[in-house]
Amino acid sequence: MCGITGYTGVNQAGPILLEGLKRLEYRGYDSAGIAVQGDNEIKMLKATGKVSHLVDKFEAEPDFKGVCGIGHTRWATHGIPSDTNAHPHLSADGKFAVVHNGIIENFAEIRAELQKYGIEFKSETDTEVIVQLLAYNYKGNFKKALMKTISRLNGSYAIGVISAEHPGTIFAAKLSSPLLIGVGIGENYFASDITALVSNTKDVIDMDDGEVAEITPDAVKVYDHSGNEINKEIRHINWDIASAEKSGYEHFMMKEIMEQPQALKATIEPRIRDEEIVFEELDLDMKKFNRVHITACGSAYHAGCVGRGIIESLCRIPVEAEVASELRYRDPIMDDKTLVIVISQSGETADTIAAMKECKEKGATVLAIVNVVGSSIAKLADYCLYTWAGPEIAVATTKGYTTQVALLAMFAVWAAGQLKTISHGAYASMVIDIMRLPERAQRALDLNSRVKKLAEKYYDNQSLFFIGRNMDYAAALEGSLKLKEISYLHSEAYAAGELKHGTIALIEPGRLVVALCCYEKLFEKTVSNIQQVKARGARVLAVAHEGNRSIFQEADDVLLVPQTDPLLAPVIEIIPMQLFAYYVAKENGCDIDKPKNLAKSVTVE
Ligand code: G6P
Repeated sequence: MCGITGYTGVNQAGPILLEGLKRLEYRGYDSAGIAVQGDNEIKMLKATGKVSHLVDKFEAEPDFKGVCGIGHTRWATHGIPSDTNAHPHLSADGKFAVVHNGIIENFAEIRAELQKYGIEFKSETDTEVIVQLLAYNYKGNFKKALMKTISRLNGSYAIGVISAEHPGTIFAAKLSSPLLIGVGIGENYFASDITALVSNTKDVIDMDDGEVAEITPDAVKVYDHSGNEINKEIRHINWDIASAEKSGYEHFMMKEIMEQPQALKATIEPRIRDEEIVFEELDLDMKKFNRVHITACGSAYHAGCVGRGIIESLCRIPVEAEVASELRYRDPIMDDKTLVIVISQSGETADTIAAMKECKEKGATVLAIVNVVGSSIAKLADYCLYTWAGPEIAVATTKGYTTQVALLAMFAVWAAGQLKTISHGAYASMVIDIMRLPERAQRALDLNSRVKKLAEKYYDNQSLFFIGRNMDYAAALEGSLKLKEISYLHSEAYAAGELKHGTIALIEPGRLVVALCCYEKLFEKTVSNIQQVKARGARVLAVAHEGNRSIFQEADDVLLVPQTDPLLAPVIEIIPMQLFAYYVAKENGCDIDKPKNLAKSVTVE
């Protein structure tokens, strides 16, 4: 997501800020910018794309001088990635510049109010209201104006602000978004992330919600929400850069697995109002369509397989799911009554783009489910719903997949509401279960140490099978892919009932079969498949819902996950499978974040 940093001292701020932004690159971003105070004015540089583009611009501007400044890497939320939308944002009078992480929920209201006073806005961002409101509130006292401004903001923020009239001073404030102050000698810093600080100082102040810091070269003063100065401890850190980027986790994959409750929350919560699902971005009449076709690649396709089950079940409309590399060359039958849902974390997968173009040519309406704002798929689609998972760095997707499934489920409930194929009671109950996904995902993560032990037990199985029925089968596809992607073990997902038609021939003593058993309607059927493989000597690791006692008599090992609606179970049951893949790969000494032969974003055919 976005990253912010700031510096005030005796050295030129530009190179220090750019270095800080480079350290924040790992988080993912689509544009960057810096601003410095110099000669009683604020100078700004912004660039879409890489920080290196910003460095080129900086090097071409010898007059870009100043010893106090702020910087930002932006991951677009409000408004496309562009130089105008990139931070810092400047007030209309040119006196203040701000960088911001987070979301200002009431920005539209503040913006409308300020526009009434004739203040002109340049960008589409929520952030710009902060700096415009600050300039409006400013009557000569920087601190007072800032305190007044932040008291109006709803949502989350970590901000850094400079003023042309107050050389050497930075104000930084925080609410529900990370912010650290870096303490040096004769120079001080701030950043959203420790990585932007560790090469300059290892002494930091952790800012808490509601606090405001006044940072000058020789002092850092911290105030509470009423403006009273408070004492804060300085913490000495001993992280190196690499571990800092991963927030202390050994791999990005683990960090991203652990981020899932937060990613789900960010994807779900803004779209539920008064217990209803609201897609402001979706002006779509579902009655127009007589079928839905889902297409994607890799894990996104597996999310689509789950989506197929949910949409068909709730909307009673035929749904197909197909890998994009097949669909694009198949001359599929579709027309203007077909809704095509394309799913992509990166929004740049070549096969998915080609399949989507093919469908559009045939007259279908395309709805994209994408994580990266402003990506090619987001732009080409007729409609786009974003997962708000934040940047995903590990090649094997985790939070990308679970947020895609959650969003597909929300879409299914929303569409069923429109088509009147769902009762009020069922709608309300699905909304509640969707809202509880982040908390249940968190509880599934509590299985971490138990899954680690199971991975230590089973890591040397050279060939594994994942079985399940219905929604469990859809989840099995992803569980198996996760394992093979990062551990290089042979792994296959099979519809449990299909085993007997061939694959059971491969079951031999000691073979591990992972049985997903959360789809309770077919539990007894899956149990009979478990018995069949056990009779041939397989060892069975089962994943079932909490409260399921009978599974203990069938399987060698059991992982119980929090109960949820059967249609949503894949979001939760995949979590121990992600952890299992992670620890098996670790036991086998594999390069977890960058598995051999794979790429995060496959932009060629
Ligand atoms: C690659 C990645 C997978 C991903 C697939 C689709 O193969 O390694 O993790 O699921 O591409 O990517 P997308 O960005 O379209 O979701």
